[in-house]
Formats: sequence, C-alpha cells, structure tokens
Amino acid sequence: MKKILGIILICTMIMGLMVGCGSTPTTQEEPNAEEKVVEEPKDEKIVIGFSQIGAESGWRTAETESVKKTCEEDPMIELKFSDAQQKQENQIKALRSFIAQEVDLIALAPVVESGWETVLGEAKDAGIPVILLDRQVSVADESLFTSFIGSDFVLEGENSAKYLIEKFGADTKVNIVELQGTVGASVANDRKKGFENIVNNNDNYKIIKSQSGDFTRAKGKEVMEAFLKAEGKKINALYAHNDDMALGAIQAIEEYGLVPGEDIVIVSIDGVKDAFLSIKEGKLNCTVECNPCLGPQLVKAAKDLKDGKTLPKWIKSEEDVYYGQKAIDAIPSRSY
Ligand code: AHR
Repeated sequence: MKKILGIILICTMIMGLMVGCGSTPTTQEEPNAEEKVVEEPKDEKIVIGFSQIGAESGWRTAETESVKKTCEEDPMIELKFSDAQQKQENQIKALRSFIAQEVDLIALAPVVESGWETVLGEAKDAGIPVILLDRQVSVADESLFTSFIGSDFVLEGENSAKYLIEKFGADTKVNIVELQGTVGASVANDRKKGFENIVNNNDNYKIIKSQSGDFTRAKGKEVMEAFLKAEGKKINALYAHNDDMALGAIQAIEEYGLVPGEDIVIVSIDGVKDAFLSIKEGKLNCTVECNPCLGPQLVKAAKDLKDGKTLPKWIKSEEDVYYGQKAIDAIPSRSY
C-alpha cells in the first residue's frame, strides 16, 4: 500500500511541474542559447537635414564647409543640405521637406529668432529632434528643440565694448557707430545687448548711430557711408556685429579720406582670416572670435542622440579676443 501511495505522489509532482512550465510561456518559448536569433548590428546611416541661412559672410561659408566636410568624412552620416537664401519661408519649406523624408535629425541655423513654433511642433510630432546651429530661436516651449550648438553672443558684445574701453580709457569721450547684423536675428539682438551692457554704464561712451548692415560687406560699406555723411569726423569708433561689415566699412572710411584703425577705431566679431590680415595692416583694431567650425559638434550630437544619450541644452563654443601682436601671430594657424 505504502509503495502504491509513493508512486501516486511522484506522478502528481511530475504533473504539477509540467503544468507550472506551461503557465510560463516566456520561458517555454525562449529558444536555446544556440537557437537565439543574433541581432544584426544596425549600421544604417544617420540622416541629417541641415537648413542653412545662406552665404552672407565668410563666417557663414566656413560654417557650411565645416558641416559638409565633417559629414562627408563620416561613413555613418548622410547629409541633406538646403540653402535658404536668407529667407525664413525657405527654411520652413526645407524643414517640412526633411520631415516628409523622415530624416533622423534636423539641424537649423535660423535666420531670425521668431516664427518657428508651428514647424518645430511638426518636427516634434514626427519624433524628429531639432538641433539649433549657431543661432537661437525664441519659443515659449523649449522642448521644441533638443539643443543649441553655438556661441555666447551677449559675451561677444560685452568683449567688444571692453576692448574699446581698454583702448580709449574709461575717461575719454567716445562717439560710437554701430553696424548691426540681420534684423530680428538672435545674434544681432544679443551682440547689441552685450555691447550696451558695458557701454551704457559709462557716460563718456555714446552710440550715436546704429543701423543694420545685414552681415554683408556691401551693406556694411553702404551704411558706413551714410554714417560718415551724417557724422563725419565726430565718429571715434565703429562696432560691427561681424567682420565682413567692418571690412566693407573700412573701404568707406578710406574713400571718405579718414584712416581706419587710427581716426576711427574698429572692433568687430567673427575672427575670419581677412579680419586678421586687416589687423596686420593696421586697419581693423580687434576681432572677437566666434567659432563657425560646428560640424564636429553636430555629428557628435547626432551620434549621441542615436545612442540614447541626453544632450546638454546648450553646447557652448570656446572663443578668444584678438588684437595687436597676438592677432598677427595667430594668422598662420587660422583655418577660416
Ligand atoms: O550667426 C553668426 C553670424 O552670422 C556671424 O557672426 C555672421 O558673420 C554670420 O553671417
């Protein structure tokens, strides 16, 4: 009897075990180690759609080259490039086309600050991250873009003003004319703001004229001609939001019969090679660097995003201020 009861007990336990395995389908369906499907490593390219503003300055050309070259040299990246010819409407069209093409990442150098909510919302709804390259947008909802890669434009304006105060001394009366960048661009607003942060604290420093030269040499020359016509020898200093406008203005000053760099002290921003050469000639006094070589940072950000990393909201560029011998010594190593 004991034997029979023992056999019944063992059979019941075996059946119980079989029912338990059946109740856990995951383990039951799990293939043996040898049978496991090995996932192919995904070597699909990361497709970046880049909407560039245009080619208004040497700086802009250097930025385009940096992005194109870095992407071309990286087998993991495919770049779709669009030149907006200075028009926001063209940038919006380009962004919509990138969304339709289901790119992995959109890089946007926004010509102006405002008016981006709708299209950035469309990118967000499509699950496509947007990286702002070099210029900022003003949006209430900061989740509409992933990161901003670029410079501290307010600091650039402050450094420009500090240079003038160092050059003239805080007690000298200085009449300044200002060539602003593109109207409505974050970079123009911030460079103006930074400059005013410093000069408005000193009653001796006055901005007597301020107008946009649209970041181009031709417009910089034209507006400087108008400044000279209106104010002539009263002008002691020129602050230009970029080197190209300063280089155009230098021509206007020479044609007017004044000596740039002496009669009118000139500070501008960017650090393009032509600016360094002009410092060597004694015509431009100072250039505040703004780094356009953003290609490597963009590609790194694209890869980090693919790897699921969280990017900092602002990936800041490191920059310097150049004048005098330091500028001359730097000429051979300037890459743009
Ligand atoms: O946004 C950066 C600015 O745009 C550069 O300083 C200027 O040269 C360019 O066109």
